[in-house]
Amino acid sequence: MRINRYLASAGLASRRKCDALVEEGKVTINGKPAHPGSEVSEFDDVRVDGQKVMPREEEYYMLYKPKGCISAVSDDRGRKTVLEYLPDGVGRVYPVGRLDYDSEGLLILTTDGDLAQRLTHPSNEVSKTYIAKVEGVVTETDLNPIRSGIEIEGHLTKKCRAHVVETNKNYTKIELVLKEGKYHEVKKMFASIGHEVILLKRTKIGELRLSGLERGECRKLSLEEVNYLKTL
Ligand code: URA
Repeated sequence: MRINRYLASAGLASRRKCDALVEEGKVTINGKPAHPGSEVSEFDDVRVDGQKVMPREEEYYMLYKPKGCISAVSDDRGRKTVLEYLPDGVGRVYPVGRLDYDSEGLLILTTDGDLAQRLTHPSNEVSKTYIAKVEGVVTETDLNPIRSGIEIEGHLTKKCRAHVVETNKNYTKIELVLKEGKYHEVKKMFASIGHEVILLKRTKIGELRLSGLERGECRKLSLEEVNYLKTL
């Protein structure tokens, strides 16, 4: 990575200030002066004024978000946030994307801003899989408008996959795979075909599945899972 980013992510200063340190000749890489365009990896010996700079270890967590908390690090209305479910001593992690207050399921939290940005940027179309429990009986045919795209508040939703996984006279469970994440999108999709969502659960991001957790529990992502997310 570029030297200014390396220094900034180690918590030294903003990228601009780190550029200035490089230009002032205060930074060395393996004993040689750094230049603004220098690239470094975790194996290089990087020093500022002779002091070794250690790269910051990024942190990656999977949380089984329960209902009744917001996907943010603070709330001006004093509601519970997802941070309350993380162990003490975790770094400055942020949730990747959002799940509504009353939705549950897979939420990733990380200090890695680049990965968070990639996973949420609309142009990357990372798929998200949900199970929506909706009131009443929904048939496969009823799902056709949702599959082909419906206009919600002037926006045509992207084509998506949807199928019924369970149904009885009171409710139907539908699995949906979406490649976009507009505000309250799933709830609005079902509202537009006349069904209210009773519970919404996210089960996958790409092929990363919510696994090994009870509601409200979190765990570190494995190296394999992190590397997979970096391919998305
Ligand atoms: N769509 C919704 O309506 N709510 C969520 O939490 C996620 C997707």
